[in-house]
Amino acid sequence: MPSLQGAPRFVRACFRQKVDRTPVWFMRQAGRYMKEYRDLRKKYSILQLAKTPELACEVTLQPIRAMPIDAAIIFADILLPIEPMGARLRFAPGPVIDNPVRSAADVRRLKDFDSREGLSFVLRAIALARRELGPIPLIGFAGAPFTLASYLIEGGPSDHFLKTKAFMLEQPKAWDQLMGKVRRITAAYLKAQVEAGAQAVQLFDSWVGCLSPEQYRKCVLPHSRFVLSALKSSGVPVIHFGTGTAGFLEDFASAGGDVIGVDWRLDLDAAWGKIGARAIQGNLDPTVLFAAKPVLKSAVRDILARACGRKGFIFNLGHGILPQTPVENVKAVVDWVHAWSLN
Ligand code: CP3
Repeated sequence: MPSLQGAPRFVRACFRQKVDRTPVWFMRQAGRYMKEYRDLRKKYSILQLAKTPELACEVTLQPIRAMPIDAAIIFADILLPIEPMGARLRFAPGPVIDNPVRSAADVRRLKDFDSREGLSFVLRAIALARRELGPIPLIGFAGAPFTLASYLIEGGPSDHFLKTKAFMLEQPKAWDQLMGKVRRITAAYLKAQVEAGAQAVQLFDSWVGCLSPEQYRKCVLPHSRFVLSALKSSGVPVIHFGTGTAGFLEDFASAGGDVIGVDWRLDLDAAWGKIGARAIQGNLDPTVLFAAKPVLKSAVRDILARACGRKGFIFNLGHGILPQTPVENVKAVVDWVHAWSLN
């Protein structure tokens, strides 16, 4: 662990150090619930925003200017690395991959690449944002091998992950080759983000909850562990986030990460019971941000009560912020978390 003297409260909390107040940020905090973002999107596509470092930096700063959150997350997308791998990606408006991976030959065709070339725009955006942010720490991120592989195979979002699971269970060798490629690229990409200035990184395994515990242990855990282990020497905290992980949280946590991101399908104190002495990030249901203030207030209070002053708590949602979320409710949550967690 690096020296944490004078480190921001978000970084201190990731390493389970004492903090003056509970840090708070929101997954997908840069996005369509903000008017400033929607205005920019009238002029630029999501890929244009992500691939223009000045614009990506601007979008990263929008929520920071609007409220006193404790961390920024670089504006990018977990799907960006699949383009230099050879996938044809577009947003229509959700992601579509026109040449999905369906066979061992498709896996062989996927290219390895150096993120300093193939994803240089993300690294430049990180360097720019880091300069602009001053004392606010910047989080880099990537999709976890399973979630990324699911997009490569399905060709877009999916309800039941039928094609992904068929591939995983029926073509285990090709699956391991696919995960082998994805994990190498992901580990190198995250390291490059740290070198560019990211002060923490988050691995998003957004769809891993569609798996049985046995499927997770056998087909996914070793690959996530590879990525998370590769970052241990980076000196920055690593957040390992998944949704629907309640049934195998011990296994999920055993793959690694300084901080475990949990969703709202599990009480925060129960999650802690399962993972032991590790930092936790979560876990407000994003739909509760649409509720009347008293309802929202008591949900926030409940989470803070369950965190119960433990070291290593980062307040967040259990998944990304939804597009129509009222901004004033998001701001209220930031203020309540800070005010109620004063030591
Ligand atoms: O958190 C942040 O503010 C940083 C930016 C960020 C985006 N995507 C920008 C984005 C982050 C961290 C992501 C991660 C991401 N992208 C995930 C993992 C997190 C999660 O929510 O589970 C996933 C699964 C994706 C893939 C993806 N990108 C989908 C499924 C979609 C379309 C769905 C939707 O919300 O419309 C995107 C597009 C996308 N990425 C948007 C944003 C702000 C919305 C695009 C728009 O402006 O129209």
